[in-house]
Amino acid sequence: MFAVCGKFGVRMYIKELKIENFRNYKIEKINFIPKINIFHGDNAQGKTNILEAIFYGSLGRSFRTNKDKDLIKFDEDFSNIDIDYHKKDRDGKINIKIANRKFITLNGVKIKKLSDLIGNINVVIFTPDDINILKGGPENRRNFLDVMISQLRPQYVYNLSNYKKTLEQRNKYLKQEKKSEDMLEIWDQKLAEFGCNIYTYRREFVDKLISKVKDIHKNITGEDIRIDYSSDCENREEYIAHLKKNRHIDFAREYTSCGIHRDDFKTYINDKEIDTFGSQGQNRTAVLSLKLSEIEVINDEIGEYPILLLDDFMSELDQGRIKKFLGSVQDIQVIITCNNKIDIDNSKLFEVKEGKIE
Ligand SMILES: Nc1ncnc2c1ncn2[C@@H]1O[C@H](COP(=O)(O)OP(=O)(O)OP(=O)(O)O)[C@@H](O)[C@H]1O
Ligand SMILES: [Mg+2]
Repeated sequence: MFAVCGKFGVRMYIKELKIENFRNYKIEKINFIPKINIFHGDNAQGKTNILEAIFYGSLGRSFRTNKDKDLIKFDEDFSNIDIDYHKKDRDGKINIKIANRKFITLNGVKIKKLSDLIGNINVVIFTPDDINILKGGPENRRNFLDVMISQLRPQYVYNLSNYKKTLEQRNKYLKQEKKSEDMLEIWDQKLAEFGCNIYTYRREFVDKLISKVKDIHKNITGEDIRIDYSSDCENREEYIAHLKKNRHIDFAREYTSCGIHRDDFKTYINDKEIDTFGSQGQNRTAVLSLKLSEIEVINDEIGEYPILLLDDFMSELDQGRIKKFLGSVQDIQVIITCNNKIDIDNSKLFEVKEGKIE
C-alpha cells in the first residue's frame, strides 16, 4: 500500500500541459501539482479530454479512438500537445504535433519509432469502461495483462505477435477441406514455444499483482480478494500432448481449442466469484485495486511511481471508499475528473467549462 511502502517513494509527475486545437480546446496551459489534481465540471465540458491529452502524450495513442484525426479540434488542421515532466533522474519535454501524420519530439529531438516514446512517462489509467476487466469476457482480462506486460517487457510483444500469427495460420488450415493431422505438427511446436513463453510472463506478472492486491483491497474495503490464473500452457510437454489429443476436435470445430488465447483469471471477493455475485461498486473497487496493484508492480520494476489518471472515478463509489482510496495515493501524482467539486487535502482544483479551465 502506498501509505505504507510508498511513503518515501519516488514519483514521476507532469509539471505542465499545453494543448492547442485538441478536441474542444483552442489553447490551454495547465500547471499541475505533484499530488492530487481534480478537474470538475458538468458533462461534455472537456474533462476527459485533458486525460486523453496526457495519455496521448505518454503513449502516442488515445484510449478512446484509433483515429488521430478525431483529436484535432473541429475545423482545424493540426493539434499540438506539449508536456513538461519530472522524473527521478531527469526532467523532460515531449511535443506531439498531429496533422496528416504525427510528429514527436523528446527534448527537442525527433523520435522515429513510437517505442522510443513509450516508457518516458508511465501512466496507469482507470476509466468507467474498465469495469469490463472483471465483468466482461476473458479477452478483457487478457488485454489488461497484455497492456501492462508489453510496457515492461519488449520480448512479450514479440512472443505475442508470433503466437497470434501461428494461431491464425493453424486456424486457416483447419478450415480447409483437405487436411491431415500430421500437417499440424509444425504449428503445434510453434504454438508451444511462443505460448509457453507468454505463459511464463503472464504467470510472473499475475503473481506480482497477487502479492500486492490482497492488502490493497483489504485496506479500501475490508474484503478478501483472491485471483486464480489458469492457462493451458503451464507445461510445454502437457500442452503439446493436449494439442495432439484435441486434433480431431479442432478438425471438427475448425479452430484451435486450447492455448494461451484461452487464458483467464477468476477473481473472488470473500470466496465468491465477483463477475457472478459482485455488486457494481464491488466490481469497480476490485478493478481499482487491480490498477493500484499495477502501479506498485511498475514501481518495483522501474523504481518510480507512474502517474494515475482517474476518469469519472467517483461514480458508483461511496464516500468511505473514495476517502480510503485517496488516502492511499498520497505519494503519487493523481489526475482526476469528476462532476462535483471535492474537498481533499493536498489537492488542486480546476473547473472545466466549455473547453476552458477556470
Ligand atoms: N475533435 C473535436 N473538436 C471539437 N470538440 C470536440 C472534439 N471531439 C470532442 N469534442 C467535444 O468535447 C466534448 C466532450 O469532452 P469530454 O469527453 O472531455 O467531456 P467531459 O467533461 O469528460 O464530460 P463527461 O462528464 O460527460 O464525461 C463534447 O462536447 C464534444 O463535442
Ligand atoms: Mg468524461
